[in-house]
Amino acid sequence: MQFKHFLKFSDFSREEYEYLFQRARWIKREFKQYRQYWPLSDRTLAMIFDKSSTRTRLSFEAGMHQLGGAAIYLSTRDTQLGRGEPVEDAARVISRMVDIVMIRTYEHDIVKRFAENSRVPVINGLTDKYHPCQIVSDIFTYIEYRGSITGKIVAWIGDSNNMCNTWLQAAEIFDFKVHVATPPGYDIDPEQIGLINTAHYEKFLNPRKAVLDADLVTTDVWTSMGFEEETEQRKNDFAEFCVNSEMMSLAKKDALFMHCLPAHRGEEVSAEVLDGPQSVVWDEAENRLHTQKALMEYLLLGKVTAGN
Ligand code: CP
Ligand code: NVA
Repeated sequence: MQFKHFLKFSDFSREEYEYLFQRARWIKREFKQYRQYWPLSDRTLAMIFDKSSTRTRLSFEAGMHQLGGAAIYLSTRDTQLGRGEPVEDAARVISRMVDIVMIRTYEHDIVKRFAENSRVPVINGLTDKYHPCQIVSDIFTYIEYRGSITGKIVAWIGDSNNMCNTWLQAAEIFDFKVHVATPPGYDIDPEQIGLINTAHYEKFLNPRKAVLDADLVTTDVWTSMGFEEETEQRKNDFAEFCVNSEMMSLAKKDALFMHCLPAHRGEEVSAEVLDGPQSVVWDEAENRLHTQKALMEYLLLGKVTAGN
C-alpha cells in the first residue's frame, strides 16, 4: 500500500498544504461547535518522545482522541529504545501494532531510519533539524489573521535552529521571503537543508535591519533542547537578539509576532511583545491541534470529502 511520511516541510507540495489548511479550517469549526467527527475510530497513534513536550504531546493525543482514535505515549526513557534497541527493529515492531507514529527526537536521521522501516506513516514531532508540524500551524495562523503569506516578509531573529530551517523550507513552497538575523557563529546552512533558491532568504547580522518591512516577526529560544551545555555562552552571544517593542516598532505596523513556545520572557522576547497586541502565540499554539488533526486524517485516509 502506498503511504506518505511527514518528516520535513518539503515532503508536501503547496497543493497538499492548501488541502490541509482547508481541512483544518473545517475540522476547527466542527470542533468549536462541539460536533463529533470520528473518521479515525479504531486507529491508533504511537507517540515516541525522546525530548520533553507540552504542546506536541497534548495536541497529538487530544487530536487523535477527538477524531475517534487512540494515542499511546512512549518515552524512550522507559522503552527498550532507551536501552539500545535499534531504531529499525523498534520501527518494524511498533508499526505492526499501530496505524500511525509520531516521533520527537534528537538526530533527524533517527526519524528517517524509523520511517524507512515503518509499515505506517511517520510524523516528525521535532528533531534537531526540523519542526515541520509547528510551521504548518504558524502558516495556518498567519493566513487566519492576514490572508495569503505569499510575497510577505518573515523576520527570523535568533538561532539558526530547527524552527529557522523549517521556515526556510516553507518559504520556497509558499513563495515568501525570510530575513534571517543570527549572531556571528550561528549562521544558517542552506545546503544542509536542501535550499535551492537564494531568492527566498536574506541574511542579516543586525536584527533591527532584518525586521524592517517585515509582515511577521518570529523567534525561538536561544538554547534548544539538546544544547543545554551552551546556555551561558548563548546568553552572551544572543544578548542583542531580544525581540522587544523597539524592535517590533521597526517592522510593518500590522506585523504579527509568533513564537512556537515555550518562551523565556526577557531573553529572546520581552514580556511586552509576547503578551502584547501583535502577538498571536496562543492561537499559534491552539492551531497545532487543528492542523495536526488534518495532517493525521490526510496521512491515514488521503483526501476526503466530509464537510467539503
Ligand atoms: N512548540 C512546541 O513544539 O512545544 P512543545 O515542546 O511543548 O511540544
Ligand atoms: N527550538 C526549540 C523548539 C521547542 C519547541 C527546541 O528544539 O528546543
